[in-house]
Amino acid sequence: MGNIVVVGTQWGDEGKGKIVDLLAQDIDIVVRFQGGNNAGHTLIVDGKKFIFHLIPSGILYKDKKCAIGNGVVVDPEVLLEEIRNLKKSGMEITPERLSLSEKAHVIMTYHKAIDLAREAAKGKDKIGTTGRGIGPCYEDKAARTGVRVIDLTEPETLEEKIRTNIIEKNFYLTKFFGSEPLECKPVLDNYLRMAEDLKPFISNVSLELDQALKAGKQILFEGAQATHLDIDHGTYPFVTSSNPVAGQVCAGAGIGPKHLHSILGIVKAYTTRVGSGPFVCELKDKTGDYLQEKGSEFGSTTGRKRRCGWLDLVMIKDSIRLNGLDSLAITKLDVLTGLEEIKICVGYNLEGEKIDYVPASIKQLDRCVPVYKIMPGWEEDISLARRMEQLPSNARAYLQTIEEITGVPVSIISVGPGRQDAIVLK
Ligand code: GDP
Ligand code: IMO
Ligand code: MG
Repeated sequence: MGNIVVVGTQWGDEGKGKIVDLLAQDIDIVVRFQGGNNAGHTLIVDGKKFIFHLIPSGILYKDKKCAIGNGVVVDPEVLLEEIRNLKKSGMEITPERLSLSEKAHVIMTYHKAIDLAREAAKGKDKIGTTGRGIGPCYEDKAARTGVRVIDLTEPETLEEKIRTNIIEKNFYLTKFFGSEPLECKPVLDNYLRMAEDLKPFISNVSLELDQALKAGKQILFEGAQATHLDIDHGTYPFVTSSNPVAGQVCAGAGIGPKHLHSILGIVKAYTTRVGSGPFVCELKDKTGDYLQEKGSEFGSTTGRKRRCGWLDLVMIKDSIRLNGLDSLAITKLDVLTGLEEIKICVGYNLEGEKIDYVPASIKQLDRCVPVYKIMPGWEEDISLARRMEQLPSNARAYLQTIEEITGVPVSIISVGPGRQDAIVLK
């Protein structure tokens, strides 16, 4: 299989976790390379549900190694809780199985406070962030004032950084937002305590991956968020603060591009979005409610209802270009069962002109009207299909249309949330 990159092609929650878990059986190491615990990746294995926010979705296999790369922003509280929960389920989470990059940035108490205060102040114009401090942490990384995982191993450096940062953050929190200031000592003590528990996992992930590659091991890079939430290529400013596109793998894991062999894009069979921002194919009618209910479209991280709409191939074609996708995994096809007709957006009409890319201007995007191809639906239950021939002809026609319009082959079709609920074509 070689080394594979798995990325989201829409606005997140495409089912990346499920597909990573499925593919991980033939992989040695699974690596996260961007984002943080804004991600919520759901795995259902033997009827048991696991939601991972930071730990890569390969961890349920006892013989697999998982790594959190330098491009990730890490909330130690969340990481330690995930480790504790896995241990409670009887799994052994040792430093041999989980590595945390010493260069990853740490989400601090003040990042979370700023994220929440800023969103509250924006009111109806809010981005609808997950409130996990992701943006403020990446801001400090770019500003060169961030706390890195390595700093957790040097109490003096940590104290110095927290003391300096907290003066500035308190000024911002109290004077600009009218929020309560944070006290340095409790924050420092808390992070020092957590540092003790995290220390065994801290390592040079880039070096470890290099050794693994030299030993012929296969690596899967697990994207979080998705292409249209990308800070450069997404629907800015309604985006996250990292680059979820495949090109970020190298910078965010510390390896060179020659090691990436195939790029798989995860495409939900319809579109969802949590949080604010433009959504050309959004359905604010009973079909939208149907998709939301049948697909159990609630955010895995915040529990918010996901907005739903038809599949938008304009977005997918952008994702194919931006990630260099080799193939597509279509997820949640089972959710479309029971609909009389299914629409696929094949272009946008922007004031009389047909375009087939997502415009950079949010105002223009808001004015885009979807051009739909209408396809017949199917009634048959497809959740037990394990071969293409077992799908009704209308479902096969839907998949074929996606391939024809995008020019990219479909390699996996997911028909249910469980590990086995899939048709693997290649
Ligand atoms: P991720 O963030 O991309 O990993 O996706 P999430 O886990 O946030 O959301 C996907 C949701 O759909 C989860 O609840 C999965 O268990 C579920 N899911 C994944 N694939 C399928 C599928 O093919 N059919 C159905 N019905 N559910 C699926
Ligand atoms: P996974 O990996 C869906 C969205 C938030 C918000 C915007 C910015 O599970 O697909 P942030 O907290 O990142 O500053 O929020 O991005 N968002 C996601 N939406 N799935 C995710 O991750 C997301 N991570 C962030 O809802 O609109
Ligand atoms: Mg998710």
